[in-house]
Amino acid sequence: MRNVTKDNITDVFVGYMGPDMDPRMKEVMTSLVRHMHDFARDVNLTHEEWRAGIAFLEGCAAVETEDRHEFVLASDVLGLSSLVDMLHSSPEATSSSVLGPFHVAGAPDLPVGGDMKRDFPGPVLVATGIVKDTDGNPIEGATLDIWQTAPNGLYASQDDAQDTYSFHGLQKTGADGRYAFTTVKPVEYTVPSDGPVGDILRACGRHPWRPSHLHFIAEAPGFRPLVTEVFPDDDPYLDQDTVFGVRDDLVMSYQNMPAGSFPDGFALSGSVDEPYLRVDFDLTLVRHSV
Ligand code: BEZ
Ligand code: FE
Repeated sequence: MRNVTKDNITDVFVGYMGPDMDPRMKEVMTSLVRHMHDFARDVNLTHEEWRAGIAFLEGCAAVETEDRHEFVLASDVLGLSSLVDMLHSSPEATSSSVLGPFHVAGAPDLPVGGDMKRDFPGPVLVATGIVKDTDGNPIEGATLDIWQTAPNGLYASQDDAQDTYSFHGLQKTGADGRYAFTTVKPVEYTVPSDGPVGDILRACGRHPWRPSHLHFIAEAPGFRPLVTEVFPDDDPYLDQDTVFGVRDDLVMSYQNMPAGSFPDGFALSGSVDEPYLRVDFDLTLVRHSV
């Protein structure tokens, strides 16, 4: 096409794609470019704004490291990660929620009843629940990859003062499907805002806070893996999570417990000698469709 115009350029783009293209790739590229062109026409995008967009992408690439995932963070604060989660969440299962950039693979085993708190300061929390199927049956042999920040609001990978796997654990359920561990009450924290994503947040008049939460990846043979997080109902940022991760069914309540042994009959390796908090939160997994 010689006579490319602002009105036909989208169709010209579609016409340039080859006949042997993967059909899904063609669908995705056509829609992506159509929306991008419509966006530029809608806002009458200027050269300066176009350059600012390219500089944003270059800025993300410049700060990207093994421990700093600025592109994921950009997707998170723009709501794209959560939208993709919601598009593929099963209505019968516990809702999924953002993975975020701080998950570290290879966490150490954490036996049922195990302790993640160690000697970190802060209120003790016992988190427990059943991993179950959509009929309510417990799932034996489910693995839970669990992580959270330390009381200073930093994940291990952000904080030289912590070991690689501090506040990370891998737990396997027994026949009763139960998981349980002692930890510290999670705190609300800010997503990294010293890079290009922080600039976008400030330009949009937004804050970088996330409500406090515990992260889980639940997996079991025959079931769809679930990436999720749970949030306490009294958190001040529950209605304004900067990465859009909160869903109604992921909100839980802490119970205040007196000092003493854990009432459900199994030993905890962490201490509950002081009054502590308890949360019960079941995770429902859906079977892989056949
Ligand atoms: C997190 O919860 O770890 C997280 C999620 C999205 C962006 C930053 C952090
Ligand atoms: Fe988090």
